[in-house]
Amino acid sequence: MTNIMDDPLTAGPEFTSKPVGRAQGMYSTSSMEELSLVCAMNFIFTDDKYNGSTITIFGNNPILQQRRELPVIGGTGVFRMASGVAMLNTIYFDVAGGNATVEYNVMLQHY
Ligand SMILES: *[C@@H]1O[C@H](CO)[C@@H](O)[C@H](O)[C@H]1NC(C)=O
Ligand SMILES: *[C@@H]1O[C@H](CO)[C@@H](O)[C@H](O)[C@H]1NC(C)=O
Repeated sequence: MTNIMDDPLTAGPEFTSKPVGRAQGMYSTSSMEELSLVCAMNFIFTDDKYNGSTITIFGNNPILQQRRELPVIGGTGVFRMASGVAMLNTIYFDVAGGNATVEYNVMLQHY
């Protein structure tokens, strides 16, 4: 299974919360043992001083675990040379409908 995504990135968990960018990328199931994804995605920011800047997240995402940690492997614009981690926390997950809201708490070092 491989999916391409282009999801809203918002300041808060509500669908009506302030848009700050898009989360674009792809993911595939990658484990024979659990529901786990290999995730490759870009956060493309559009808000304020971050407009046009991006970060790239690539890693293993075992989506049924409440909290996950994915590497941030790079960035552009104000996040040039970024490296760090994204701490993921599932706020809402409708398995049947395929909708999810996930909080990303990102810690970065960049120039
Ligand atoms: C972000 O940058 C684009 C391209 O320069 C511009 O068209 C757009 O209005 C900007 N958006 C904001 C919210 O500043
Ligand atoms: C997913 O959420 C959106 C926005 O609330 C809604 O329009 C859509 O119907 C939902 N999709 C499913 C399959 O539940």
